[in-house]
Amino acid sequence: MEAAAWGAVQAIRPEATSTPCDGTVLVVADAFDWLAALPRDSVHGIVTDPPYGLIEYEGQDHDKLRAGQGGVWRQPPSFDGARRSPLPRFTVLTDADKKRLEGFFGQLAQATLRALVPGAHLILASNPLLSTTTFACFEAAGFEKRGEIIRLVQTLRGGDRPKNAEAEFQEVTVMPRAGWEPWGLFRKPISEKTVAANLRRWGTGGLRRVSRSEPFRDVIASSPTRADERALAPHPSLKPQRFIRQLVRATLPLGLGVLYDPFAGGGSTLAAAARLGYKAVGTERDDTYASIARRGIPLLRDLYSDEERPQ
Ligand SMILES: C[S@@+](CC[C@H](N)C(=O)[O-])C[C@H]1O[C@@H](n2cnc3c(N)ncnc32)[C@H](O)[C@@H]1O
Repeated sequence: MEAAAWGAVQAIRPEATSTPCDGTVLVVADAFDWLAALPRDSVHGIVTDPPYGLIEYEGQDHDKLRAGQGGVWRQPPSFDGARRSPLPRFTVLTDADKKRLEGFFGQLAQATLRALVPGAHLILASNPLLSTTTFACFEAAGFEKRGEIIRLVQTLRGGDRPKNAEAEFQEVTVMPRAGWEPWGLFRKPISEKTVAANLRRWGTGGLRRVSRSEPFRDVIASSPTRADERALAPHPSLKPQRFIRQLVRATLPLGLGVLYDPFAGGGSTLAAAARLGYKAVGTERDDTYASIARRGIPLLRDLYSDEERPQ
C-alpha cells in the first residue's frame, strides 16, 4: 500500500522533484496541476496551511510583501523594538475576493477528495473570519467534517482601536485580539463497513493516539513560531514544529502511508513528517520558497530533543 503510493507520487514531474531528506519529496509545481496527474486514492493524509486571502501569495500583493509594505500584508506594531513578521490582513477582502475564495476551496476540496484514500483525514489551517466559508466547501465536496482543532496562540491580529481615531476612542477595540486559530478536521468517507476494516484495508479511518492511554485532543496550546525556526526556514507563514508535529502524527493512524502538503511553503509540515519517520510529499509553486524549504526541512526536522514533549 505505502510502496505503491510512494512510487506514484515520485513518478509525477520527476524533473521538478527534490528529496530534502530520506522519505521526503518536494515538487516545485502548482498543487492543482500535480493533483490532476496523481492517480485516484493515492495519499493517506493531508495537513496544510493554504494561501488564505488568496491574493497574499499572488503577484501584486506578494511583491508588496517582499518589498516590505502594503497590500493585504501589514506590519504589526513593534512594542519592544523587535522587528515582527508581516501578517496577512484578511479583513480587506472584498465580496469578489470571497467568491474567488469559495471557488478556490471548492476546487481544492474536489481535487484532494479524489487523491485521498477512503478514510483519510485532511487537516486545514484557517482563521476565525473565513473558516465558516472555507469549511463549507469541504463538506459540499463530500468530506465528512470530524471537528475542529483549536490552536491556542496569542497573535497580533485584532485588538486595534479605530484607525486614525485612536486617541478619541481609547476604550474601543474594533475586533477582539485573536487568541486562537481553527484548523478544520475532515475525513474522506470510509469505504469499508467499519473503521477497523478500513484501517486494515487502507491504513486510515481514525487518528493516531498520543499514547495508548491518551487520545488525540482537539485543543492544543501553542506559541508563535520561534525566531530560531524562522531563521532556518524564513517563510512568512512558517508553522511551529512543536504544534505541527502533533497534527502530522495524528493524521496517519498506523504511522503508515504517504502524507501530502499541497502548499508546502517553508516546509514545516514536511519537516514534521520527516521527524516522525513518515513518508511525505509537498508541492510549492514559488521557487524561492521551495529553495527555503529544501534547505530548511532537514534542519527543522532535527530541532528539539526527543525527550521534549511537543507543544
Ligand atoms: C500559507 S503558506 C504555507 C506555509 C507553510 N505551512 C509553512 O509552514 O511554511 C502557503 C504557500 O502556498 C504556496 N502556494 C500558493 N498557491 C499555490 C499553488 N496553487 N500550488 C502550490 N503552492 C501554492 C505559496 O507560495 C505559499 O508558500
